[in-house]
Amino acid sequence: MTNEYILDMNQISKSFPGVKALDNICLKVRKGTIHALMGENGAGKSTMMKVLFGIYTPDSGKMIFKGQELKLTGPSDALRNGISMIHQELSPVPHMTVAENIFLGKEPTRGKTGWIDKKKMNDDTKALLDGLGININPKAKMKDLSIAKIQMVEIATAVSYNADLIIMDEPTSAITEKEVDHLFRIIDNLKSKGVSIIYITHKMDEVFKISDDITVLRDGQFVGMLPAKNLNKDKLIEMMVGREIKQVFHKEEAEIGEVALSVRNLTRKGKFKDVSFEVRKGEILGVSGLMGSGRTEVIESVFGIYPADSGEIYVHGNKATIHSPKDAIKYKLGLLTEDRKLSGCFLPLSVKDNMITASIDSFITNGYLNKKKINEKCKEQKDKLQVKTPSLDQLILYLSGGNQQKVLLARWLLNDPDILILDEPTRGIDVGAKAEIHKLMSQMAKEGKAIIMISSEMPEILGMSDRIVVMHEGKKMGELSREEASQERIMHMVTQEYN
Ligand SMILES: Nc1ncnc2c1ncn2[C@@H]1O[C@H](COP(=O)(O)OP(=O)(O)OP(=O)(O)O)[C@@H](O)[C@H]1O
Ligand SMILES: [Mg+2]
Repeated sequence: MTNEYILDMNQISKSFPGVKALDNICLKVRKGTIHALMGENGAGKSTMMKVLFGIYTPDSGKMIFKGQELKLTGPSDALRNGISMIHQELSPVPHMTVAENIFLGKEPTRGKTGWIDKKKMNDDTKALLDGLGININPKAKMKDLSIAKIQMVEIATAVSYNADLIIMDEPTSAITEKEVDHLFRIIDNLKSKGVSIIYITHKMDEVFKISDDITVLRDGQFVGMLPAKNLNKDKLIEMMVGREIKQVFHKEEAEIGEVALSVRNLTRKGKFKDVSFEVRKGEILGVSGLMGSGRTEVIESVFGIYPADSGEIYVHGNKATIHSPKDAIKYKLGLLTEDRKLSGCFLPLSVKDNMITASIDSFITNGYLNKKKINEKCKEQKDKLQVKTPSLDQLILYLSGGNQQKVLLARWLLNDPDILILDEPTRGIDVGAKAEIHKLMSQMAKEGKAIIMISSEMPEILGMSDRIVVMHEGKKMGELSREEASQERIMHMVTQEYN
């Protein structure tokens, strides 16, 4: 760790139609340090990093990297210069293998033939993954991997370039605490080799665990840069949002009523076995578990995305036949998916269209789409969730990650389901908006809705759930009431079979 700057981004500005995303932003990163880039959803973090990675050309400003001015023609130019990036939105090529994804564009070839040397590629991938302690088969197809594993592959890919600077834009949004620790060990190791890292996260605990310096942005403006040791959580949040908020959970007491959804002995081969649980009206049921525990898979079956092989689902006491998401919606179920890009967002559509897709029928009056009603209802959601967008007609593609997530949540709020399933609902959401979403969940429970919340964030599980189901390796390990639950007990249930 030195005081020598490897990167000096000076007075960078970048505008998009209707948005000044970056307004004279400075970012200086010391060699061999971890620099956290912090700010609310839409503050400009990803845009700043896309400038540094050559995806966007800045409107003005100058970048000095390793003592030389950096003028990039594109990402491959950035890679050549020693900068690699883990993107906020995962973009695996689904039908390719892990090795093919990692070596995409830099495949080893055999002699003069130009043929791809598959064996070398697989061997090198294995060596790379082994070196990082990541246990994934190089020959596995990306489409068969869980989102957490896809994220680990992205991390390995970024490391594989041997870059001097690695940008990590929310690398832990899809992984659980165990893998986060793993990533931190990888980061420590890189740091000891003199690699610099720019780290973006909305998880406050992470920031103080690993960063040396912190730069804060707000609404496209530079707020400040400080050594991490001179800051604490509350001060940092204040810099980010410009006002004081405490990290509290807005869990209100709600009357718990009849069973709304009952899942009995649900089984999907190779994914999960004999899973039973129920959730009542007014209740928030938390689902906890490590990566690969089958949490998401169970929910996908309940919602009809991949129907189960056996078992039953009852909605309000009646047996339900759910073979597709359409069926699930008929039974008044809603699902906010874990991965917004692969299964949630319709990227080429507007914010408005993304909001109304699950409730389109309710906007038809006399056979016509009631545009006025659509505008009113969507605006209401936009305001309620503080979605940052120049207009409702903006393509969702252009929204920041956290704001996309808010639009998807709005979709299900508009649909007004009886049973709402939320898979990592606050993933990528900033501290302020997180509190808003928690408040909203509480309100919905109070209105008599049943809520199932999958979350990898222990404080969120403990803070918001009335009851907690713990899953591990496709099995339900047990259930805890709000009173019984603690981080230790949950971790114990997950690991008990090893002890
Ligand atoms: N290609 C684009 N076209 C139009 N607007 C854009 C584009 N990219 C980003 N923006 C806008 O620029 C602003 C900054 O977005 P950015 O993605 O940098 O935010 P962020 O700090 O990364 O937020 P998050 O924490 O939600 O990921 C937002 O208002 C966003 O909607
Ligand atoms: Mg971002």
